[in-house]
Amino acid sequence: MATRRLGLIMHGVTGRMGYNQHLVRSIAAIRADGGVALSNGDRVMPDPILVGRHAEKLESLAKAHGIARWSTDLDAALADPEDELFFDAATTQMRAELLGRALDAGKHVYCEKPVADTLHDALALARKAKASGRKHGVVQDKLFLPGLRKLKLLIDSGYFGRILSVRGEFGYWVFEGDWGWPAQRPSWNYRQADGGGIILDMLCHWRYVLDNLFGPVRALTCLGATHIPERIDEAGHAYRADADDAAYATFELEGGIVAHINSSWCVRVRRDDLVTFQVDGTHGSAVAGLTSCLTQHRVNTPKPVWNPDIPQTIDFYETWEPVPENEAYDNGFRQQWEMFVRHLAEDAPWSYDLVEGAKGVQLAELGLKSWAERRWLDVPELAV
Ligand SMILES: NC(=O)c1ccc[n+]([C@@H]2O[C@H](COP(=O)([O-])OP(=O)(O)OC[C@H]3O[C@@H](n4cnc5c(N)ncnc54)[C@H](O)[C@@H]3O)[C@@H](O)[C@H]2O)c1
Repeated sequence: MATRRLGLIMHGVTGRMGYNQHLVRSIAAIRADGGVALSNGDRVMPDPILVGRHAEKLESLAKAHGIARWSTDLDAALADPEDELFFDAATTQMRAELLGRALDAGKHVYCEKPVADTLHDALALARKAKASGRKHGVVQDKLFLPGLRKLKLLIDSGYFGRILSVRGEFGYWVFEGDWGWPAQRPSWNYRQADGGGIILDMLCHWRYVLDNLFGPVRALTCLGATHIPERIDEAGHAYRADADDAAYATFELEGGIVAHINSSWCVRVRRDDLVTFQVDGTHGSAVAGLTSCLTQHRVNTPKPVWNPDIPQTIDFYETWEPVPENEAYDNGFRQQWEMFVRHLAEDAPWSYDLVEGAKGVQLAELGLKSWAERRWLDVPELAV
């Protein structure tokens, strides 16, 4: 059994996602476990070079995680034929251009979402990737959450009967930074000029979640809001938060399922998790969070009677039953990395390509348009 090297350029690993999920939880963890196992027993060992703007940061990250190579020279990294894969988790606005350069340099590409900040750029990138013959992919991490995996299991088992509707609640309070605690998310998320906004951020996730679990999204209406117009940035300075920080969107799916998803950074949590999806079907319902999934079958459904004159007699939270923990789930970002590495090394199946990434940007762009024009919009097929 042989170990093959995979030369990997990692860009944007000093950021929140690049560092926590991609460098530490995925690539460093895979390296510590001896690489990715292939079907013939061989292993693929990622050999990353960390690329970015800040030499000291890169050097200390590389040292801390036993990585030999780092550089501030992206052109030189792209010119090295020994590094065949380019990965980007830096800011959204740079992504399409960077991935385009990597494809021109003959690299395979993998990246965070969104793949671009406009559908025009996302489509151009997807077309370029298809024409290049290189392999390409985008992170679709929510599909790998244990809660959503359990939900998928319920769907595949036929548990729901006919699915009627999906209610998603995503969000939590992001501190303004003007008292008590600093904000717990980067300030660029709240500035339009820097590629911020919850519609671009979250609707590309909801596209692949809805498409993959419940059916293709055919139409939407979306109302955005900028509830908190001023916030404090990382340096302690007040700034105008002009990007949307909440989105209230309704989707029509093929087959008639209605999905409504609220996404907000201005909501205080009183629910099971930071994201929850309630699915109601003729035979049963379920509520999935990040890790758990609770069910209520038709035979276990309590019979509430509306009576405002007496306090509620049913503890509704008590009337649900968890899907058991029959499987240990690995970190979702790592699972997707391993799938992509197998796709590169042995052509294993892969569905999360840049065309799928473009569909996410399409939904976000239509969401912004629906909000601006105050109307329902159809979601056309993408011609790539
Ligand atoms: N999959 C998910 O659930 C998820 C969650 C959050 C963010 N993201 C995506 O990840 C990306 C990064 O988000 P984040 O929250 O980690 O942000 P962040 O601000 O923590 O990190 C941004 C990174 O980009 C780098 N960067 C910024 N400007 C640059 C420039 N001009 N040249 C080179 N590098 C530059 C920064 O140094 C940093 O490494 C975004 O595209 C975002 O949409 C995905």
